[in-house]
Amino acid sequence: MDYKKLLADTVILQDVESSEIEPLITVPKDPAMGDYCLPCFKFAKEMKKSPMALAQEIVSRIGAYNFLEKAEAVGGYVNFTLNKKMVASRVVEQVLTEGIGYGRSEEGAGKTVCIDFSSVNIAKPFHMGHLLNTSIGGALCRIYRSLGYKVVGINHLGDWGTQFGKLIVAYKKWGSREDVDSRGVKALFDIYVRYHKEAEEDPSLDDEARAWFKKIEDGNEEALSLFGYFKEVTMKEVERVYKRLNVTFDSYAGESFYNDKMQPVLDELEEKGLLELSEGAKVVRFEGDKMPPCLLVRSDGATLYATRDLAAAVYRKNTYDFYKCLYVVAYQQNLHFQQIFEVLRLMGKPWAADMVHVAHGMVSLQDGALSSRGGRVVFVEDVLNTAVSKAGKIIAEKNPDLKDRDKIAEQVGVGATIFAMLFNSRIKDMVFDYDKVLNFDGETGPYVQYTYARCCSLLEKCVSEGDDFDDEGIANPEAYALVKALEKYPESVRLAGEKYEPSIVARQVVDIAQAFNKFYFEHNIKDAAPAVRNARLALVGATRQVIESGLTLLGISAPQRM
Ligand code: ARG
Repeated sequence: MDYKKLLADTVILQDVESSEIEPLITVPKDPAMGDYCLPCFKFAKEMKKSPMALAQEIVSRIGAYNFLEKAEAVGGYVNFTLNKKMVASRVVEQVLTEGIGYGRSEEGAGKTVCIDFSSVNIAKPFHMGHLLNTSIGGALCRIYRSLGYKVVGINHLGDWGTQFGKLIVAYKKWGSREDVDSRGVKALFDIYVRYHKEAEEDPSLDDEARAWFKKIEDGNEEALSLFGYFKEVTMKEVERVYKRLNVTFDSYAGESFYNDKMQPVLDELEEKGLLELSEGAKVVRFEGDKMPPCLLVRSDGATLYATRDLAAAVYRKNTYDFYKCLYVVAYQQNLHFQQIFEVLRLMGKPWAADMVHVAHGMVSLQDGALSSRGGRVVFVEDVLNTAVSKAGKIIAEKNPDLKDRDKIAEQVGVGATIFAMLFNSRIKDMVFDYDKVLNFDGETGPYVQYTYARCCSLLEKCVSEGDDFDDEGIANPEAYALVKALEKYPESVRLAGEKYEPSIVARQVVDIAQAFNKFYFEHNIKDAAPAVRNARLALVGATRQVIESGLTLLGISAPQRM
């Protein structure tokens, strides 16, 4: 229901179209001021009247409408209070008829959004930073799909670079197939860390590493087979985590995919006179040196991360003709993406304006910062396992007879972890604290899941009788606050897409859960008169639906019992 439009039409002002009034109508912060308000200051100034007098004048001219309970003039504002019963029954009915479709839209029909996210590095740990990234990217993929966009989820694998020469040297010196087969990336990471320590003492290792990387480039069989093995080991582990996180990709075109796609881009840069020689290297310089130059070819002829990203951008535009291309990557890479986007702009690509760096912050555990240097790093899989085992303990205490306890512990533990990644604005750094994210009474995944299970069990235990429906049952302040929270859900999904901010959905779902629990504690459902109970059960059903839709968008399971 477009209440702003309806309300704008009730306002009669000489020489003012309702289309000028509509955008001024907002939702007051304090619900006691009504559902909507119209500030009269702008019109009052134009009409040389006092805002208070104008508000009163407007109110005196508003006729009777069945959707409007009252309109009041308060200090230069017109406050509108809607007919609560009507709003409540409409929202509930809409949610129940649209079901999973409530909150979806077609705004993106015919448009493609590329979302580059997770983008893990071969032979490197899947650490907490990637968890944040993967959770945000996965949620954005689902949010955009629900808004009607075609989404291409891209895992721009870090599968190229001189570090693979180093890893081969390390593996040949200190690694073993047995160890890597059993400990996976942890084994690879250990020897990689060891390499860096030893290379400080013995720089000749770096020459060996360079030689091995050259062999990879030249297609040497042994080098390729080792490289392939590292990739396989990494992907096996990473896929295991993706499965638990409910995340999938449409493309795994990683850095190595662009090996043969960089030259044409470099040629184009050369033709356009953008490539400059600088001590043997090739760079693009920016006007007034507003940013450091973007290094694209090193003096030894090697290409870089940035070179591959340029080629990838051009490839994505040609292949998917995207409407937008998002990069969900930590803010440490701000400069990198500013450079890439600016180089594309200088190349005269109008679509450079459609590239967005969706930057996010850092995650640390309570006991200190995480870094992948020096080997101190926290693996996502370990964090998930810990969260699941802690969730299992809490569930065992709360509900000892629960069936499928392991499965539900997995859903709650993993759900709590993802929820924690998505609840804060993405740009903020965060400290991950198991007790906090698993708190069943906090602004957490388990709290929302628990509320969902409560809705499910209510609907199982109380059945509606007859078709009598007393709207009064859902027009009390607690029910109405819940209705308003449900009503806001579609807009929060739309905004989350517009701002690349899944936290807007996560927060809305928490608001709904909180409003539901207030309603539930204040108002009896089971023993209410049948018509009132029917109305309240419908509201419970609508709440269950919207929480489920919201959790699904975030990539979190909604167990019916817990
Ligand atoms: N693999 C990179 C890293 O872990 C992230 C890649 C992001 N995507 C991109 N197209 N540059 O830092």
